[in-house]
Amino acid sequence: MDKGTPKAIRLQDYRPPAHLIDTVDLQFELGEEVTTVRSTLGIRRNPDRPDAAGLPLTLDGQRLDLVSVALDGTPVAPDRYTVTADHLTVDQVPECFSLETVVRIKPQENTALEGLYKSSGNFCTQCEAEGFRKITYFIDRPDVMARYATTITAEKARYPVLLSNGNLVASGEHEDGRHWARWEDPFPKPCYLFALVAGNLRHAEDHFRTFSGREVTLRIYVEPGNEDKVDHAMRSLKKSMRWDEEVYGLEYDLDIFNIVAVGDFNMGAMENKSLNVFNTKYILAKPETATDNDFLGIESVVAHEYFHNWTGNRVTCRDWFQLSLKEGLTVFRDQEFSSDMNSRAVKRIADVQGLRTVQFQEDAGAMAHPVRPDSYVEINNFYTPTVYNKGAEVIRMIHTLLGPEGFRKGMDLYFQRHDGQAVTCDDFVAAMADASGVDLSQFQLWYRQAGTPDLSVATAYDEAARTYRLTIRQTVPPTPGQPDKQPMHIPVVVGLLGPDGADLPLRLTGEAAPAGTSRLLHVRKAEEVFEFVDVPARPVPSILRGFSAPVKVKADVSDADLTFLMANDSDAFNRWEAGQILGGRILLGLVADQQAGRLLDLPQSYVDAVGAVLRDADADPAFAAQALVLPTEAYLGTQMDVVDPEAIHTVREFARKTLAARLRPDWLATYRRHAGNQSFSVEADAIGRRALKNLCLAYLMALEDEEALSLCLGQYHGATAMTDVIASLQFLSNSNAPQRDEVLAGFYERWKGEPLVVDKWFGVQAMSYRPDALERVTELLKHPAFEIRNPNKVYALIGGFANGNPVRFHDATGSGYRFLADQVLRLDPMNPQVAARMMGPFSRLRRYDAARQALMKAQLERIVATPGLSPDVFEVASKSLE
Ligand code: ARG
Ligand code: ZN
Repeated sequence: MDKGTPKAIRLQDYRPPAHLIDTVDLQFELGEEVTTVRSTLGIRRNPDRPDAAGLPLTLDGQRLDLVSVALDGTPVAPDRYTVTADHLTVDQVPECFSLETVVRIKPQENTALEGLYKSSGNFCTQCEAEGFRKITYFIDRPDVMARYATTITAEKARYPVLLSNGNLVASGEHEDGRHWARWEDPFPKPCYLFALVAGNLRHAEDHFRTFSGREVTLRIYVEPGNEDKVDHAMRSLKKSMRWDEEVYGLEYDLDIFNIVAVGDFNMGAMENKSLNVFNTKYILAKPETATDNDFLGIESVVAHEYFHNWTGNRVTCRDWFQLSLKEGLTVFRDQEFSSDMNSRAVKRIADVQGLRTVQFQEDAGAMAHPVRPDSYVEINNFYTPTVYNKGAEVIRMIHTLLGPEGFRKGMDLYFQRHDGQAVTCDDFVAAMADASGVDLSQFQLWYRQAGTPDLSVATAYDEAARTYRLTIRQTVPPTPGQPDKQPMHIPVVVGLLGPDGADLPLRLTGEAAPAGTSRLLHVRKAEEVFEFVDVPARPVPSILRGFSAPVKVKADVSDADLTFLMANDSDAFNRWEAGQILGGRILLGLVADQQAGRLLDLPQSYVDAVGAVLRDADADPAFAAQALVLPTEAYLGTQMDVVDPEAIHTVREFARKTLAARLRPDWLATYRRHAGNQSFSVEADAIGRRALKNLCLAYLMALEDEEALSLCLGQYHGATAMTDVIASLQFLSNSNAPQRDEVLAGFYERWKGEPLVVDKWFGVQAMSYRPDALERVTELLKHPAFEIRNPNKVYALIGGFANGNPVRFHDATGSGYRFLADQVLRLDPMNPQVAARMMGPFSRLRRYDAARQALMKAQLERIVATPGLSPDVFEVASKSLE
């Protein structure tokens, strides 16, 4: 850091702003050399801050070249205002006044992609969280909400399209080739929702009629040449609009909704009022260039940003500690939407897998924080899996506790109370509790306590008394700054299977009659006992159905019972989960064997269990494709006290090869049944069949025999859908096939005109577990298609290696660590947000052995010792070293 150690901002220090801004009039003069921003703010003292009378006006502003300041139309004398690196302060301001500032900025030099910047020659903005202060002087915090009018002037030939929030109210042309457009947004909003786009763009247009009959014009803007890749995004948008009306009674509130896709974007997308800006990755798709996961990702991110219009924009956050108020809730909403559009079970499995690998790792590392953090150095470091995905699990638990109707009542009350306001997570929970009568006071710990709770479940069947007892104990591990934890309110949904595999009707001690076959148990204390009565025979327990809480469960369920659950559980999630627990147990046992130098052997009973799922795969191909995947290397790591990336990789590959060899005819037959040339569709069923087919090919390719190789090459050369092409490319990239290099080179030649496809090509090579992966990645850094300034390229190549290739990244020599530190230091001066995002693996160093810890620490020490480090990277590096 230039100016010493950056300071932490704390929730407990929150105070309402001394001044409020009601109106904003912005005039942008966009230029190649310089852009001028003239801002006129209608400001008044905040009545909620009685002490504000004597206070100066303090505006945030960074990297702004201030040209002039005027108050109520009169220039402010130089001795009445102060400019620092972060602020403009004006003394002796009246109670109510207008302030006009003129600043100059250089968007073309903005490589941080925060504020106003250029992507492929077009102007665009990203203001969340604190980017607006890089555009103009403002009170840059979400509890300051204003009405915006924005006039954009730019050269017409270069920037024919001029967009901002709200409605286009006027436009015109100047004699000199410039033109202008004026936009007005009738809804007061925090400045993080401001957006501006100016460029040479084409658009697709469609319409949506809302339930009250409002006709909304929908437009998706893309760079010329991409017009053929927006249909799926447009369909997804219309489906989202319909879904929010049907499920929540929420209607869109303007006559126009615009989306712009840009190639340079730090995150996925941004919900700016009526002008969403997206990473092209979450808009552009056609079967030839996008995988099924891309199609699903687009559907969910388009929905996510659209849903923010109510959960985020109409009701926003009081301060950035409340980020999960909008993000957790909106992720929950997009997950539910995707579940309704596709397969609910498969969606839940995918979401839980993501949570358990990425969020559980975060919760066990140096950056662990509560869903509502209580302090941060750089807010951009808190757009995390914890705030987003664990936050969504917290909302899901409220949904489980209240039931769908109670939850809907809570949402209605939340909007009734808070529409147009900037509020807190407590306000949300209060609306839920008040509308339903459910006591959520202990539940609120989920917002305050970090760490993944551990549940242990002990079972006891009493044959004589015909009772079945579950003893559930919870502990919440210590996390940075939170050594001692209180017991949480954990909703645990359970079922009991009888000997025939059917669910038993459930009656708890004290109940008059059985009620249902899945029961919600409230675990509130450190230990709770639940006793079921009238249980005719020893049942098999199905615990935490649907993953009803984001916890780790250890239960005394035998391997035989898990196999039984895999075949019989009526809860699809737990049918999958049983296979994961069993697979995890076996693989972790093999890890111990490997570490002790014992011979590896995969139990035949496990092979048989997998074989049974495989032979039943056609009943639900999408489900089978998930159930047949072994627990991932990252997930296995989260189950170990000391992660051993090498042993995990060796053992998992051993298991894959063994399953491939022993079930070879079944993999082959299943592959062949689903490899036929069906016409392409993105319906859940078609996606499921492709996933199953490619999984079969993955197993076959683990053997790398002639037949597998020829099937894989056949698929690579014959497929038209990118899902199939990239799957076969990935298997080849992992292999020693003689055709490997030629195929990889050919793929690049074929697709070098499509940046998003080139990203996949980088990713496949970065994640190859061949021993030469790092060498290849290092070469690819110099490839003409690699661009360090483009976040998607960085995420694909550097991120792919650091996060998606544990065995090579954690190479015992420390070469992976040195590589990552080099790249972080190279990125930091250009784009601190992206640089800090790359640091994830370092923040988990304590999970590894002493030698690896020392190697990672050495790199972190090198990083923190670097002068001029951004607060973003400084925060992650210093916390990782603590
Ligand atoms: N609100 C956006 C979303 O979740 C994310 C924007 C985050 N941007 C950032 N620079 N941290 O849809
Ligand atoms: Zn969001």
